[in-house]
Amino acid sequence: MRYDQTLLEDIRSANSIVDVVGEYVPLKRSGANYTAPCPFHNETKPSFMVSPRLQIFKCFGCGKGGNVFTFLMEYEKITFNEAVKKLADRIGIKLPVYQEQSKEEKSLYNSLYGIYESALRYYQNNLIDKDSDGLAYLKARNISDKDIKTFQLGLALKTQSGLHGYLAKKGFSKEALAKCGLFTSSNGGLRDKFFDRIMFPVYSSDGKVIAFGSRIYKDSDDRGAKYLNSPESPIYQKRKHLYGLYQTKESIIKSDSAILVEGNIDLIALWHHGFTNVVASLGTALTEEQVKLLSRYTKNIYILYDSDSAGKEAAARAISTFITQSIFPKLITLPPNTDPDDFLEDHGTSALRDYIDDAKTFYSFIYEIRNAGKNLDSKRRALTEVISFLDQIVSPVQKELYVQECANLFGVSETNIFRALQALKKKSWKPKDPLNLHVDPYHEEKDIIQLILSHPEQCADYFDDIEVDYFTHPLIRKLFKLFKTKENPDILAGKGAPLLDYFDPKDSDFISDLLFNEQPFSRNDFEKMLIGLQLRKLNVDLNTLNEYIIKHPDNEEKIQEKKAIKHKINQLKKDFKGGTVKKLLS
Ligand code: CTP
Ligand code: MN
Repeated sequence: MRYDQTLLEDIRSANSIVDVVGEYVPLKRSGANYTAPCPFHNETKPSFMVSPRLQIFKCFGCGKGGNVFTFLMEYEKITFNEAVKKLADRIGIKLPVYQEQSKEEKSLYNSLYGIYESALRYYQNNLIDKDSDGLAYLKARNISDKDIKTFQLGLALKTQSGLHGYLAKKGFSKEALAKCGLFTSSNGGLRDKFFDRIMFPVYSSDGKVIAFGSRIYKDSDDRGAKYLNSPESPIYQKRKHLYGLYQTKESIIKSDSAILVEGNIDLIALWHHGFTNVVASLGTALTEEQVKLLSRYTKNIYILYDSDSAGKEAAARAISTFITQSIFPKLITLPPNTDPDDFLEDHGTSALRDYIDDAKTFYSFIYEIRNAGKNLDSKRRALTEVISFLDQIVSPVQKELYVQECANLFGVSETNIFRALQALKKKSWKPKDPLNLHVDPYHEEKDIIQLILSHPEQCADYFDDIEVDYFTHPLIRKLFKLFKTKENPDILAGKGAPLLDYFDPKDSDFISDLLFNEQPFSRNDFEKMLIGLQLRKLNVDLNTLNEYIIKHPDNEEKIQEKKAIKHKINQLKKDFKGGTVKKLLS
């Protein structure tokens, strides 16, 4: 967490969730809560609820839930810090400036943004003012004035001192000019890195120019690199950005889908033909950060890479990056050795539309590009590759569904695919992780945490007697830890909303669900639940021991341990009907 908890609390308590949500959706009072048609899925009967007491929201239709910060993040597609900033602005709280960033650093950042901003204007003027060959080149590639304006294309002139001269006049410091990435140093001076090229500005998703891509534009140009990009700088880490996203994100949100292409010109060509929900991966292998960035806007992704072998391999790698983020992209294969720009040129909009409608799942795509239908050997290889993707699916339910479909496609049994997945697990040693986030929690754990969330004060007497590791579900374990350590008085007081600050936003649906499901408190029930919880934990331990003993039947120590656990289980079961629970638990 970046902000101090008390500051977050100040911002939260001054931004009532009812008021904030009410600014976006029409809330109606209903008992202690408010309801509305859910803004996150299509519905007529309202199943979206806001609790003024807990300061959280929850949709009983689509399952989304969270506090005022997560509401804004989800609704406006912004990050946590952006939501905090927005709500702080709403009530006129000034956020502290990060201390980690010194004055000098801040002024360097500002200079760099300023340099890129000025460079953009310079390149744009070059392209538009001068009746240039550059402009003619873009026209020849079917890029219109409107496209040029939308994507702010520009031109670096032939000279290697053009930009430098322009910026020097504007008074940027030597240091900033040296660090911005737009110059190379020669004989103690700086010379323009980009000359005689079409310039494509790269924007951050909040609309600042932070880098440039560039392309040669004359057939006679034999400088080798067709494309040349500005390097990383303090304001630009290329793995974190997507080309075009700033201009196309509205369309992506609106259509709830995005087409991912490789090239700058492919992106502009798609935009030109009305496929405005497009982004490009900036000539690098797609990164996890880029996937996370894009998935803020949509989870429905179409990969439309070049259909040459490099493009196909890049698409296969991208599949894996998406799947590990629980996104299942569809893939489009164009006719051999074409890219989207060529395709549109030759076949037009409706042909591309047909290809997009015909996009394939990842496993069908692999089947196709590996030519699995050709013979047994290619089929086996394709299946091995598909299984390596299945292995990366995080949710067991989703995994099962995809295994079924792949079994059908490849004509093998599901059991055998599961066996192959098991074998992969054995081969690749990973640190043992018994805490699987995506498994439903045991009801014993869920029941008890629900009661604690509903009545923390009454349950607090027992916290010392409950070990954190009685809980095997990672989120519930973490929730309980927050109570046991008593580190935040608001949490102990039963305010719901502050809890969510300690969790990843993606977990807020789960936690809001627990919060909304309030339970009546009875001491007797609670004590019974505690025994149930401990029994569950002992049984989990017993299973682990049993597995171990089967493999190592001579380990006397473990056998004794097993006896002790069994004894404890029997004892607990006997006392389950009554007795003093506190004594038993200690
Ligand atoms: N790219 C890059 N650096 C390179 C080569 C390519 O950054 N040295 C990126 C660019 O963003 C480019 C994309 O990869 O837009 C696709 O490159 P390529 O397939 O070579 O593009 P072409 O379709 O051949 O380019 P164009 O249509 O402009 O002729
Ligand atoms: Mn091309």
